[in-house]
Amino acid sequence: MSAARKKTAILISGRGSNMTALIAAAADPAFPAEIVLVLSNRPGAPGLERAAAAGLATATVDHKAYPDREAFERDMDARLTGAGAELVCLAGFMRVLTPWFIGRWTGRLINIHPSLMPAFRGLHTHERAIAEGVKIHGCTVHHVVPDVDAGPIIAQAAVPVLSEDTPETLGARVLEAEHRVYPLALALTASGRAVLEGGRVITLGTTASSALISPNSGV
Ligand code: GRF
Repeated sequence: MSAARKKTAILISGRGSNMTALIAAAADPAFPAEIVLVLSNRPGAPGLERAAAAGLATATVDHKAYPDREAFERDMDARLTGAGAELVCLAGFMRVLTPWFIGRWTGRLINIHPSLMPAFRGLHTHERAIAEGVKIHGCTVHHVVPDVDAGPIIAQAAVPVLSEDTPETLGARVLEAEHRVYPLALALTASGRAVLEGGRVITLGTTASSALISPNSGV
């Protein structure tokens, strides 16, 4: 089993709570992905320390040190390749990637977005969900395409929106769901059970569900 584990890098910019969830899942030798590198574009991102404490290789590629986006990405790409990465997970990585980088990693580059895509692309998703009065909100793990917060959906988790919710309480409920759905999506992708087909992800196997409903509904 372990020989077939997909070598996976995680790109972060901040606290790295999703990264931590992925690291915890991959600590199980039966998990189909192993984390080979955690890379941050922000020096001193708290997630770097967490990753190092877990015994993982870390790197910083500070975007501010490069003349343009592509020079930054070429260096990042070299680090990923050097670490032997076969899959890349964006986990709170706050840089928009160029079509060049996305093209290099197409089908092997996934992201988590805090909404049920295609709703609420962009920022402030919890605030906007409350303002729209939606009753169900959640998060999505998807393949990265040149459009921001778009691309084939691998897995989603739904949570209820409660009348008394603030962006903070709703965000905390969604974040908990993120920590469950990202490991699921990585497992599906790394094991080859989530397959890109005609612009969609098909989940193979009757036991492989890629939708989660939060048990912490509070209703
Ligand atoms: C998460 O809400 C994720 O959905 C979004 O950025 C946030 C990152 O949080 N893309 P963390 O760094 O994983 O704690």
